[in-house]
Amino acid sequence: MTGEPGGSGFSRRHLLFGGAAAAGAGAAAALGASAAIRAGDEAAGTPDAAVGAAVATANAVGEAIVPFHGVHQAGIETPPQAHALFIALDLLPEVDADALRRMLRVLSDDAARVTQGRAPLADTEPELAEVPARLTVTFGFGPGLVARARSEAPAWLRPLPPFGIDRLEPRWNDGDLLLQLGSDDAITVSHAARMLLKDARSFATVRWSQRGFRRAAGAEPEGRTMRNLFGQLDGTVNPKPGTTEFDELVWSAGQPEWMAGGTSMVLRRIAMDLDGWDRVDRPGREASVGRRLASGAPLTGESEHDEPDFAALGPVGFPVIPDFSHLRRSRSEEPGERIYRRGYNYDEAPAGASVSDAGLLFASYQADVDRQFVPIQRRLEELDLLNEWTTPIGSAVFAIPPGCAEGGYIGDTLV
Ligand code: HEM
Repeated sequence: MTGEPGGSGFSRRHLLFGGAAAAGAGAAAALGASAAIRAGDEAAGTPDAAVGAAVATANAVGEAIVPFHGVHQAGIETPPQAHALFIALDLLPEVDADALRRMLRVLSDDAARVTQGRAPLADTEPELAEVPARLTVTFGFGPGLVARARSEAPAWLRPLPPFGIDRLEPRWNDGDLLLQLGSDDAITVSHAARMLLKDARSFATVRWSQRGFRRAAGAEPEGRTMRNLFGQLDGTVNPKPGTTEFDELVWSAGQPEWMAGGTSMVLRRIAMDLDGWDRVDRPGREASVGRRLASGAPLTGESEHDEPDFAALGPVGFPVIPDFSHLRRSRSEEPGERIYRRGYNYDEAPAGASVSDAGLLFASYQADVDRQFVPIQRRLEELDLLNEWTTPIGSAVFAIPPGCAEGGYIGDTLV
């Protein structure tokens, strides 16, 4: 740790955690974040400036808001937040189209408020709503919900075909209604989920709930690719939100009509055998994906975003990027056969002799599951060295309807 500003001899640690920090934090809270930033500017170069800036940065994470209303639902193009919670609900038998409409209105209203840092109606802990931290709530519809609405379902809205690598546990599969919550703050996620579930409970029961995480907000430079628990950079090759390519691959053009501006989501719970992975050396780990662990570069390149050269041969004539590697097998020749991956790590209490129960909540979004996701999964089922250490144990498919305008509700194009 170096001395802090102007060689005053204070360490950053002292500034952040010592008495000066306590005083600075109190003052900043009273002033609000933007005032703290201004105060920091004026006092630039003093130890207090560092405290002010640190506090302001922290508040900036908490105060950040993602709009709820729009053409598309938030939580897909949104840069992934640090914490995610995916909850699937089953509708109660008596829920008909009228009840569905009531439920979706109430839940949309809750989401519209809580994502903007406002307490939903009848919130018993309204203070917890004050830190949105980029909270998004994204709704998804399973086949059961669309049937209750007596509407036409997209052809792909059904459980995925079985794959030979699957070891699915029914407790992680399917569902009528998906609530996908994301925020840079874990308390915010818990509070928002509880508000939604309290309002959903006269219509539906919880089927499963899966929590995931990435690096904390601010822990790495913005835009850095996530690392999964194998230590791999995961998400390098992905359509870029806001581009025409993304729009074409992800958003539905409207088959059926109520889906225009929506998308589909496949959520696979994939267990990762960290104990088995421990026994693989670094070259073996890199060969299984076809990329370097440190940089994420393809084995034929130098940096993460270099194009892989699948034709390049090694000294004894074998491809440098092995034919069985995950990179080789997951890449499509067909330009339309691509997906948008936005996964999260999970890490639960270990059972038995293993010291981990960890994996990936593999979430992918695409305009058409059958045309885009299924062919990739089929290729990986046939051959992918990564299958040695990964096992799909849960699977669900949802239609993500479009967003709604102010005064509307999610699903208003359906019911
Ligand atoms: C636990 C399971 C999995 C792990 C650990 C994993 C890991 C990785 C890693 C490290 C990469 C290379 C970097 C990148 O581009 O992101 C990658 C690429 C990719 N993965 Fe996976 N993956 C898993 C499951 C899947 C599944 C189930 C699918 C789809 C069915 C999939 C599809 C892809 C695609 C499309 C790419 C990009 C290929 C390209 O470069 O064009 N992955 N994955």
